[in-house]
Amino acid sequence: MKIKHTTQDLRKFRGDMITFFVYQQNSKVPFCNNEYVQNTIKLAFKAGDFSGKEGETLLFYPAEKEKLPAKRVLVVGLGKAEEGKSTTGKNPADAWRENYRMAGGRVSETALKTRTGKILVVVPDPFILKRQETTECLTEGLMLGAYQFKKYKKNKQEDEPPGAIKEIMLFTEKAEKPVLAGLKMGRIAAFAGCAARDMANEPGNVWTPARFAEFGRKLAKTYDLTCKVLSKADMQRLKMGGILGVNSGSAQPPKMVILEYKTSPRNPTLLLVGKGLTFDSGGISLKPPKGMEEMKFDMCGGAAVLGAFQAVGEEKPKGLNIIGIVPATENLPGPSALKPGDIISIYGGKTVEVVNTDAEGRLILADALAYGIKHYKPQAVVDLATLTGAVIIGLGHHRTGLLSNNDELAQKVTTAGDRCGEPLWRLPLGPEYSKQIKSKVADIKNVGNRAAGTITAAAFLQEFVGETAWVHLDIAGTAYNFTEKPYVPNKGPSGTGVRTLLELIRNWK
Ligand code: BES
Ligand code: MN
Ligand code: ZN
Repeated sequence: MKIKHTTQDLRKFRGDMITFFVYQQNSKVPFCNNEYVQNTIKLAFKAGDFSGKEGETLLFYPAEKEKLPAKRVLVVGLGKAEEGKSTTGKNPADAWRENYRMAGGRVSETALKTRTGKILVVVPDPFILKRQETTECLTEGLMLGAYQFKKYKKNKQEDEPPGAIKEIMLFTEKAEKPVLAGLKMGRIAAFAGCAARDMANEPGNVWTPARFAEFGRKLAKTYDLTCKVLSKADMQRLKMGGILGVNSGSAQPPKMVILEYKTSPRNPTLLLVGKGLTFDSGGISLKPPKGMEEMKFDMCGGAAVLGAFQAVGEEKPKGLNIIGIVPATENLPGPSALKPGDIISIYGGKTVEVVNTDAEGRLILADALAYGIKHYKPQAVVDLATLTGAVIIGLGHHRTGLLSNNDELAQKVTTAGDRCGEPLWRLPLGPEYSKQIKSKVADIKNVGNRAAGTITAAAFLQEFVGETAWVHLDIAGTAYNFTEKPYVPNKGPSGTGVRTLLELIRNWK
């Protein structure tokens, strides 16, 4: 799909759909500066069908072709110019960013339901936000909303949406710098989010650890970054007993994909770690069959890190070194698989009693965190993982769980999430939780009791980050089947985490 800017006369656009946005007025007809469209809005308003409320749409087929030759006209409501619906209920700027994203998503949603391949979008006059930000968020919504994954559907079914969006043109009268800059930022973010969704949509038999490595190498080549891939032999040499243990039931060799974006040794380093479990059966502690197919999404943390790296490659942010690590393996039962009761040793030497082989994510993350911190001495670490079912019980599919040993970093990441429409909620850590994972036979064990499952998982990871400022994001509830939004598919992967990381990087200073 292409997206670009245009200043072309609207009366020359002969594509499939032209879109306008309008703000709701206090019991008055919403205003659109195209007279012809305004007349139809007036009729719809009088009929009581359209008031410009947030989320409302008005689709019609212009008859007077000399006024508007496009096949369809879509008008999308933005709500009242004084209101802002916020994810936190606080920051109106964040609320409006989300509002424009939703409006963009609404356009794509409508386009996908019709035979709309080519769209012209009239960028609305900004409210509260600067023009650059409205364009940025609108672009994100349009592109993320246009996302489809149909690769394996060879036969089209009747109930499927007919269209695929081929081209979007953002219209403003003049080619202003802020519009072009916003378009670029939005495009980079959305493209990265879609890359993460693509990886996650691939089935476990296709998206193997080797594919993570291949993707990492391709990124490095395209954007002039460094990619190192630790092989099984490397892991043995480095004594990474976590990922090796989890991998021992699998026929697919494990990979530890390491991406380096380096600016200057004087700059601080940010380390990103993402769980790349390409299929989680639970191992010997086998999961029940119902819903097990969803465990191909257990690599969404890794996908988020690589997606964010794609954006880093395109944007080349200044003043920061960034390292990304994705430990990648399957978790399967088999004659040589890890067993409950086994004791393994993580990189650096800490020993772990494996009580439940289904608590595997923390084992591979422990190796990656310990190795990354030792090797790169980062100022801060963020890890992302579909780590616990418990976080879904606690926060549902609406917020990512955040746990941290550092208030400042926790706040930074929370702010980033709020700005990009990926809300987070912090849960506590503390010695009373860490006590739950004390083992009688090893340094620690990999599960506590049932209570506070998300926190004890994070408490486990905390053992491997030492004093380094660290945030753990449990995305088990948000990585797929995320809160329904026009720019997020209601089933399947959301690409969550990508834009939070990008936002964090863009505002690091
Ligand atoms: N990948 C799962 C977590 C998960 C569960 C993600 C449901 C998405 C939806 C993880 O490896 C896991 O199995 N966790 C266990 C931990 C338990 C054994 C302590 C869980 O949450 O049940
Ligand atoms: Mn598991
Ligand atoms: Zn898992």
